[in-house]
Amino acid sequence: MIDLKNKGLLHGGDYNPEQWLDRPDILAEDIRMMKKAGVNVVTLGVFSWSVLEPREGEYHFDWLQDIMDRLWENGIHTILATPSGAKPVWLDETYPEALRMDEWGRVRHHGVRHNHCPSSPAYRKKVEEMDTRLAEQFGNHPGLLLWHISNELGGSCYCPLCQKRFQTYLEKKFDGDIEKLNHAWWTTFWSHQYQRFDQVEPPFANGETSIMGLNLEWKRFTTWNMTDYMKSEIQTLRRLTPKIPVTTNFMKLYPGLDYRMMAKELDVISWDSYPRYHNDYESLYDTCMENAFDHAVMRGMSKGRPFLLMESVPGAVNWHAFNKMKRPRMHKLAALQAVACGSDSVQYFQWRKSRGSFEQYHGAVVDHLGRDDTRIFLETQETGEMLKKLERVSHSLVKPKAAVLFDWDNRWAIQDMKGLSQEKKQYEQTCMTMYRLLAELGVEAEIVSRDDSLEAYAFVAAPMLYLLGDGTAGRLADYVDKGGHLLATYLTGYVDKDTLCWLGGFPGDGLTELFGLYSEEIDSLYPGDKNYVKFDDESIGEVRDFAELLRVKDAEILGTFTEDYIKGLPAVTRKQRGTGAAWYVGARLDDASLKGLLEKICREAGLSADPLPSNVERHVREDDRFRYTFYLNYGSAPAAVKASGTNLLTGAQAEAKAVIPPMDGAVFAKSI
Ligand code: GAL
Repeated sequence: MIDLKNKGLLHGGDYNPEQWLDRPDILAEDIRMMKKAGVNVVTLGVFSWSVLEPREGEYHFDWLQDIMDRLWENGIHTILATPSGAKPVWLDETYPEALRMDEWGRVRHHGVRHNHCPSSPAYRKKVEEMDTRLAEQFGNHPGLLLWHISNELGGSCYCPLCQKRFQTYLEKKFDGDIEKLNHAWWTTFWSHQYQRFDQVEPPFANGETSIMGLNLEWKRFTTWNMTDYMKSEIQTLRRLTPKIPVTTNFMKLYPGLDYRMMAKELDVISWDSYPRYHNDYESLYDTCMENAFDHAVMRGMSKGRPFLLMESVPGAVNWHAFNKMKRPRMHKLAALQAVACGSDSVQYFQWRKSRGSFEQYHGAVVDHLGRDDTRIFLETQETGEMLKKLERVSHSLVKPKAAVLFDWDNRWAIQDMKGLSQEKKQYEQTCMTMYRLLAELGVEAEIVSRDDSLEAYAFVAAPMLYLLGDGTAGRLADYVDKGGHLLATYLTGYVDKDTLCWLGGFPGDGLTELFGLYSEEIDSLYPGDKNYVKFDDESIGEVRDFAELLRVKDAEILGTFTEDYIKGLPAVTRKQRGTGAAWYVGARLDDASLKGLLEKICREAGLSADPLPSNVERHVREDDRFRYTFYLNYGSAPAAVKASGTNLLTGAQAEAKAVIPPMDGAVFAKSI
């Protein structure tokens, strides 16, 4: 298989020359400008179906061949997308089964994109024919680097074909025994028992939405079915071009698909990043740390390899509530952040703005102005130069010693559970907060899922692990028994994989033993309610949103509530097991006190917490010989940091300290 390792850091983006085939001058200009901007890769073919096959069976590949050849003659690689992200009109006309049905049972009309039925045999066949031809024609092209399956696979389809597949999927899952399903989904409640699998409908918006097990299983099925569809594309390409790796672009923490499942089928993980920079509700640092978390989610799925930033925007997108321009230096800093977090590419949507239609005002390297001296072009060019200086970093890895457990099944189950305060559940934000606070302490965290091995980590934070799948509790206990430090919070271990509550005390499935306590109640606080935790060192933390009434059997009490009916009762505990410890925090704490607790745990876990100056982010990538320390300063003042080695961006040497200017970054290389 092509080793992306030899390709350095990739720089480029989505390119749609098919929109400009009648403007050879523009196509020639594109290549000139790409070279000027230091572009070494473009993604072709996304949404190009109606040009590649304007009528069924009539293939027009010459333009693509010509462009790929010319790009390659100029040293620019191609990531070739299969065009299945949008359907040509003839396809929907001839094969209406390819049209999606929505959750209200309405068949969609032709149009827009990302809306095929993943079950449709006709659609799969048409895609297979297309992919076969693309692989046959371009599989040996020297410029071809990577296959890009479709684009941002997503959504779900409720059509009769999908319903049938869902029923077959359930039948297999529950061993053909409908009573197993009835028990797992607790269908006696409200008289919801099924007699046959073919009675089970998806959770239509105007139908059965009240069975938590059904809702969760539908989400799992949607992932399974979309992955199955994606695999059908992958199989065709792997069969014909086994040397070309495959990817598909993920969308941040997209809630509709469990990316962990899809990731298993891909050679390379890639994603599209569009943070709301410079907004008016949080600091730039906070915006960037959310993005760092997203990068870490991708890294966590990358099986020890770098991932790719497939899309980001030069300038502004056209779909945020406020499409604010990236301020000077932001673009370069965001690019540096991607590489710092473990990406081996910085790519854009899009190279050139389309002249008309839906995304005509979406940011691009080349504007309608068509000039190569715009602010955005010049900053892209500078980014290209920066990536060139960082070439040797490619293929090095970020190797965190701590982890935050973030799980799709769990987020789905929490989202759907009826109880607590709906809007304050904030599972994703809670995981991000853990990640950010650890980052502020100078501790890099990996984002892991419930099935991942925890062996490499001295500390694992598993906030709000409401759903415990088969074996999860055992794995956590095993981790602590082997010397790991585990932190759990309120709302841990309430339900099993089908969302049935554990009996005999939360956290269930044996975790009451591990933590030496059980949770008797969970209380939701109004925003105006006040409660606090007093720690054994006399420090006080503020409680927000949730507090549990804990009964401690055999754990050390580190903090107690100060108010209300839980006054004096335990809030934070620790139970030693061998050399490891199971920590529990039964309340949502304010950031400062949670950070204090994390610092204490990190120290005990042997992780040297080395707090960073405010507004500064740090990551370390390493290869066999070198350690590359990245610093990014999002603040408006210079920041003094600990650093030694050569700054790859300036060539300057650092002995022990360095100053990072505002809105700037540095990368220090030091031999190991
Ligand atoms: C992505 C998509 C691109 C483009 C971009 C706009 O989600 O893959 O095709 O639409 O958004 O920001």
